[in-house]
Amino acid sequence: MTPLEKKISELDPNRIPVHVAMIMDGNGRWAKSHGFVRSDGHAEGVSTVHRVTKLSSDLGIKYLTLYAFSTENWNRPKEEVDTLMYLIGWAIERELPELLANNVKIVLLGDIERIPDEPRQRLFYARNATAHCTGLQLNMCLSYSSRWEITEAVRQIAKAAAEGKVNPDHISEEDVSNHLTTAGIPDPDLLIRTGGEHRISNYLLWQIAYSELYFTSALWPDFSDEDYIEALLDFQNRERRFGLTGDQVKNNK
Ligand code: FPP
Repeated sequence: MTPLEKKISELDPNRIPVHVAMIMDGNGRWAKSHGFVRSDGHAEGVSTVHRVTKLSSDLGIKYLTLYAFSTENWNRPKEEVDTLMYLIGWAIERELPELLANNVKIVLLGDIERIPDEPRQRLFYARNATAHCTGLQLNMCLSYSSRWEITEAVRQIAKAAAEGKVNPDHISEEDVSNHLTTAGIPDPDLLIRTGGEHRISNYLLWQIAYSELYFTSALWPDFSDEDYIEALLDFQNRERRFGLTGDQVKNNK
């Protein structure tokens, strides 16, 4: 048994999270520490995306949501933005055969219309080609931010109310959830952030209300399969109370 297989065997197969979300941070610092330019860090980060997707699929995780490009990332130097867009389009095209072989469904979350034409077409192609897949659902957050998404939801609900289609007094949490880009997707059980920072950076603010948060200092290109299993083991050792007391949770089991 390899050290990785041994670690995997420590996981409780009955308590694998349904939905894991990730903030892939640290590409720039990884590149700098190796004497490379920032974009090389993003290119290296694609390998981690590949590994994390494969391992999630193998473990039976149902949803993996990756923060690939935030609304705020548009303000980075043009050269870095251009490279990232190119990389994302290239990576999705290159990975498509294996995604299909592994029954992985690609879903795009965010203001996708802002993505330049060429990578956007590649993303749409991959999304359409994998639409029938029933295994892991890989949600790629692109030009995404939580405040953008919540603002859009408020706008839609307000419009419906102004048109008399919705009674403001009857707007529920479920209605709000149903107007987010993640409508129909269960909330993340676990959010992992690499790169050593302890913040959420405008990511899935509504959806992570009761998610377990896990922070690791590993930079995204260095985030290994062992690191991922470590996060899952940590998750399995936590008691999720959803606002209840520990005793209530135990008695409900
Ligand atoms: C944050 O690191 C990372 C990003 C802004 C981009 C993440 C993109 C990838 C991993 C590549 C492509 C993704 C897919 C889904 C194919 P940072 O640049 O903020 O790093 P730093 O904090 O060290 O500067």
